[in-house]
Amino acid sequence: MNRKGIILAGGEGSRLYPLTKDTSKQLLPIYNKPMIYYPLSLLMLGGINEFLIITTPRDSESFRSLLGNGEQWNISISYEQQSEPKGIAESLLIGEKWLNDSHSALILGDNFFFGHGLPELLRSSFLSKEGSTIFLHKVADPERYGVAKFDKNNQIIAIEEKPKEVFSNWAVTGLYCYDKNAPAYAKDLSPSERGELEITDLNNIYLSRGELKTEFLGQGFTWLDMGTHDSLLEVSNFVKIVEQRQGIRIADLDDLKMQD
Ligand code: TTP
Repeated sequence: MNRKGIILAGGEGSRLYPLTKDTSKQLLPIYNKPMIYYPLSLLMLGGINEFLIITTPRDSESFRSLLGNGEQWNISISYEQQSEPKGIAESLLIGEKWLNDSHSALILGDNFFFGHGLPELLRSSFLSKEGSTIFLHKVADPERYGVAKFDKNNQIIAIEEKPKEVFSNWAVTGLYCYDKNAPAYAKDLSPSERGELEITDLNNIYLSRGELKTEFLGQGFTWLDMGTHDSLLEVSNFVKIVEQRQGIRIADLDDLKMQD
């Protein structure tokens, strides 16, 4: 089965001003690599080798010059632009033609995942033939995220975007696995109050159809978004510590190519 990867690397990056005044957040360094290497390598570890990178019009050329068409890593990379940050779910509309009825894995270009067994978990989720899968991680500040609500039997019953009242600490991370219907469902979405096509609304469509699976990334996993000055520093330090103490390389695309 062919599953293609979409990396959404547009956005304003306003919380990182002035770093992002003339460059993309996803091109900023995380220790010894550009940020986008991390989500790209994660999907490669899950077995994906065809990618669409969605950027702002301003930064498109810089991404092309950094990553090219991917053949140096035995993958293929295409590019599209998002004219304005009109929501994460818009990526499925922008990518519809490129997807050409394939299943997809969508990842946000500023999300960092790490943990033992993650490649195996991704590979098995990516093999799923129907519906969608979201990946949940526990957070102390759920009001900043899309949050999953459960019934007494621990079955997911809703996802709420930035809830005012805390009903669960399980945040929906920026990695989503969709079947080929995602672009068609995304067409039914209307912009939210903040003017965005919300990925939470798309996930709730899958949920209402009984087609949403959840994977819980437990204590052995780290998930961080790299969208603030503090988190840039924290993830950089995390990568440095793991690489230096364990002698491994995280998100080393040349290394991944060798393992293929
Ligand atoms: P955010 O961190 O929510 O937004 P941002 O990157 O614009 O940053 P800030 O809030 O500081 O202004 O976006 C999460 C990720 O999704 C990030 O990698 C950018 C990407 N994104 C898009 O590419 N297009 C969009 O329309 C949105 C909403 C996000």
